[in-house]
Amino acid sequence: MSTTISPEEQHEKVRTVVFATAQAAAEALAREVRVIIEEKNAAGQAAVLGLATGSTPVPFYRELIRMHREEGLSFQNVVTFNLDEYYGLTREHRESYFRFMKEQLFDHIDIPAENVNLPDGTVPLDGVFDHCAAYEQRIADAGGVDLQILGIGRTGHIGFNEPGSSRDSLTRLVPLDRVTRQDAAADFLGEENVPRFAITMGVGTILRARRLVLMAWGENKAEIVARAVEGPETEAVSASFLQGHGSARFFLDRAASSGLTRVKLPWLVGRAQWTPPETRRAVCWLALRDRKPILKLVDEEYNENGMGELLTRAGGGYELNIEIFNRQQRTITGWPGGKPGTEDDSRPERPSPHPKTCVVFSPEPQDDVMGMGGTIERLVLQGHTVHVVHMTSGDLRVNDGEALRFARVLQETSELDPARWAEADRYAGGVIEEIAAKGPFGDPPRRLRDLKSLIRRGEARDAAASLGVPASRVHFLDLPFYAEGRYRQFRAGAKDAARVGALLDRLQPHQVYMTGDLADPSSVQGVAFTAFRQAWNEREKAVWRSHCRVWLYRGHQKEFQPHEIQMAIPMSPDQLAKKLAAMQRYQSHNLPDLLSGDRNRETARLYDQLGMAEYEAIEAFRSWQA
Ligand code: F6R
Repeated sequence: MSTTISPEEQHEKVRTVVFATAQAAAEALAREVRVIIEEKNAAGQAAVLGLATGSTPVPFYRELIRMHREEGLSFQNVVTFNLDEYYGLTREHRESYFRFMKEQLFDHIDIPAENVNLPDGTVPLDGVFDHCAAYEQRIADAGGVDLQILGIGRTGHIGFNEPGSSRDSLTRLVPLDRVTRQDAAADFLGEENVPRFAITMGVGTILRARRLVLMAWGENKAEIVARAVEGPETEAVSASFLQGHGSARFFLDRAASSGLTRVKLPWLVGRAQWTPPETRRAVCWLALRDRKPILKLVDEEYNENGMGELLTRAGGGYELNIEIFNRQQRTITGWPGGKPGTEDDSRPERPSPHPKTCVVFSPEPQDDVMGMGGTIERLVLQGHTVHVVHMTSGDLRVNDGEALRFARVLQETSELDPARWAEADRYAGGVIEEIAAKGPFGDPPRRLRDLKSLIRRGEARDAAASLGVPASRVHFLDLPFYAEGRYRQFRAGAKDAARVGALLDRLQPHQVYMTGDLADPSSVQGVAFTAFRQAWNEREKAVWRSHCRVWLYRGHQKEFQPHEIQMAIPMSPDQLAKKLAAMQRYQSHNLPDLLSGDRNRETARLYDQLGMAEYEAIEAFRSWQA
């Protein structure tokens, strides 16, 4: 592999490889691992691999399993050391990293049980120090780690080395950061259940590996990846310490690379293409950075920021400003379904047909309202037929307390007329027993999951009704990937795409609204998007598809930046209040940070700063090309 750094990578302080997809990166890494295993075996030695858990390495483990099954890759002579384990969880616990590794890898390959090493989360407190020292010793005795696999948390942690971990830190017991616990909340069915401590290899332990590969997928990781790759080496971002290791690399998918200078601001590293979207991005970036409306940018500012060529092409700053201002201005419309009777083809959406059939896909209930509640209401008011399609039941987000409350109401209702309600009483009693029997961490039995789904359905209908969508147009697809999977381990199958496709064929929409295009591919949103894309691609010849336009929105992912927006739907204070009230209908699970409307206010503020009219809030959309 060449180690020369091209000019466009000049800001990157550690080797960074961008792959088209997470799958492609996972396959490349698995091929490397195969070579290491084969070379070590040829030399009569065991290959020592450092392993990680979480959603990131899952596609990589699947590829290793495939190589084992189809290509005969053997792990008989492989020794593994995992980075970390939650403190306080037994090995049988459904969220223990031990169980994760068994389910995701070890049970499917031929690695001898005695070659597998993970910290033990159950050692008593007074034994932790010795346990950690022994773990370090075992790594050393095995000859050190040949290749260490890493993911990165949103705090920049590697292993569980949260901000503040020193470069020399060793295996130890650490408290988990609040952000990390929030990110694990869905796995543990509530933040309150997430362990507060973990045992992790230290940064120093990790850096002793001969080679390291840190993988990251999805736009949620883009910001922290950019800090780790381009920022200073600092204890505030443990992953930045990889910069000082001669053989560390970052493997990214496109979305996770989107914060790197070469991708985000290519004109600063001489890589500009000056396509219309890139031109718009550059002008918006300059205006927002210098806190100036677009129309006030001057030639010197362009020249000083790598945009001299652009200026020449455009014929000067004045012309460029007007062009981009108009383009940005034209994204604003109060008519998401198109304005009937206008000839103006510079509007984001076509005027006809009118009314349109609009399908709003929501990967998890609440994505729809969160991302586009104001727009849903407008579409309804403007006469369009709006269907809201909940792709998964969302039951994994409902905590036990909610289910308990519903079961108790049912029990008390049955007391009103015990003879008639005997069956309901038995059902409620059964649910209550199941909750008690499984405890806070047990696998939820089917009946409990079903009750939780019903709770979510009620909330989803309620939220839709508050925006004018009747229950008859609220659909529940219950995609199998969700019913059969777990957080961080979801995977789309043919059955998912078939269900999405059947609904599209039935409704024949003119507009589809969807989210999840840049999400981590194993997240609910990422998998739901894969299923949608497959269904869409399979219907290339469908007549309805040739008249259908797909708009992307953002649920609880990062909001679009102004330069990316192709349709901006402004909201008045009253409209925003109504949207937020609709979000509150989801009582069984609320994401408090998103209930304030700040995201939509922020988009409006950025538009204002660019010199557009000042709105209370804006919902943002991009058009999608398959
Ligand atoms: C896991 C680990 C963590 C994760 C990180 C990212 O063993 O050490 O550092 O790699 O939290 O988690 P995911 O991959 O779930 O986004």
